[in-house]
Amino acid sequence: MIYADTVVADIAQLATCAGQAPKTKDWMKDIRLREKAWVAGHQGKIVFVGQEKEFREKVQLSDEARMIEASDLVGLPGLVDAHTHLPFAGDREKEFSLRLAGYSYQQLAQMGLGIQTTVKATRAISRDELKKICLKRLETMLLNGTTTIEAKSGYGLNFDDEIKQLEVLKELNSAQPVSIVPTFMGAHEIAPEYQADRRAYSKRLKKEIMPEVKKRGLAEFFDIFCEPTVYNLEETKELALEALNLGFKLKIHADEFVPIGGTELAVDLGARSVEHLINITPDGIEKLSRSQTAAVLLPGVSFFLMMEKRAPARELLDKGAIVALATDLNPGSSHLLSMLFTLQLGVFTLKMTVEEAINACTINAAYAIDRHQQVGSIEPGKDFDLILCDMSSYISLAYELGRNLVKMVLKHGQVVVEDGRVKEKFI
Ligand code: NIG
Ligand code: FE
Repeated sequence: MIYADTVVADIAQLATCAGQAPKTKDWMKDIRLREKAWVAGHQGKIVFVGQEKEFREKVQLSDEARMIEASDLVGLPGLVDAHTHLPFAGDREKEFSLRLAGYSYQQLAQMGLGIQTTVKATRAISRDELKKICLKRLETMLLNGTTTIEAKSGYGLNFDDEIKQLEVLKELNSAQPVSIVPTFMGAHEIAPEYQADRRAYSKRLKKEIMPEVKKRGLAEFFDIFCEPTVYNLEETKELALEALNLGFKLKIHADEFVPIGGTELAVDLGARSVEHLINITPDGIEKLSRSQTAAVLLPGVSFFLMMEKRAPARELLDKGAIVALATDLNPGSSHLLSMLFTLQLGVFTLKMTVEEAINACTINAAYAIDRHQQVGSIEPGKDFDLILCDMSSYISLAYELGRNLVKMVLKHGQVVVEDGRVKEKFI
């Protein structure tokens, strides 16, 4: 007998995203759809996925078991946002207006604005204030179906403020339902104090900040912004090697604006993922497609920066790359909290199929943050993270724009969103 304390019964359609993980090629086109599906859980884990008859034969419910009827809902694994810059303060509304007036994102950065504006704001804010801002964002994410995120530091760019960001992430992880996988991104920019001596900042990162972040167990991944005007290829390589040496897993922001070999380096170093890829070269595409490094595409960026160029999702998919989608939530290049909208951008702007976009927002996103054993699909043994959407079929995820389709969210088997509202306010 299988024992269960929670059951979601008779789900009209369930995209399980089960099977091969990560998914590539033909697997990517298959969401392992089930109709009239029953999912049961015990102590936060999924213990059964199947049809009613088998459920009645095999599953025994505890006395206080909760049964949720879902015959008019469509189920999916909780969405996974594999790339966010969650802990930032302030906004960039003025710079947004300047962009609308004709300045480019890179011009603003070269004027000392851009990331540096947010560094000032994030340094100026207290830990508690930062935590409150993040809680508000996490509540919106959960309401939009996101149950696991990756989150990067990188707006402190000094010892105290990078640690502040990472400690806030750690506190947030246990203060609300969304799981947070932390990344140290002290190499997001050159710290303002070191503009005249950039090598000195890299040296401080290597000698002082990276070892301490590792020692305190504050981050699992290390990430670097590889661009000629930020960290060039040589600097990226030096920092990446040090990160691997210290035991961090690796991510690289590469080929967002100018391709200088960041993707190739990520593959050579066995990075878990490489992100952006708007300007990836044909050689980069070939190499990435033959690797185990995930291509995390951030369609919110081309959209938000109004760039004509987009990441070549179709080519990457057709050549067999591991493709994931993420928001890149940040105040400058993608002020976007919703994975549902990201999925829609994947379909409308990157020409992905709905099935590919679903796998890219669930199981492949989980792979990009090394959580594909725990989340990203609805299978026995995995965390009971399930969203139920008010729509007639999964196609509506992309077909119906502008309405939050997410009606119910279960995290670790607990109902945390019901009737489109959080059960407990975050603040
Ligand atoms: O992923 N590319 C680097 N970092 C962010 C932008 C950060 C910002 O503009 O504040 C990104 O696009
Ligand atoms: Fe980013």
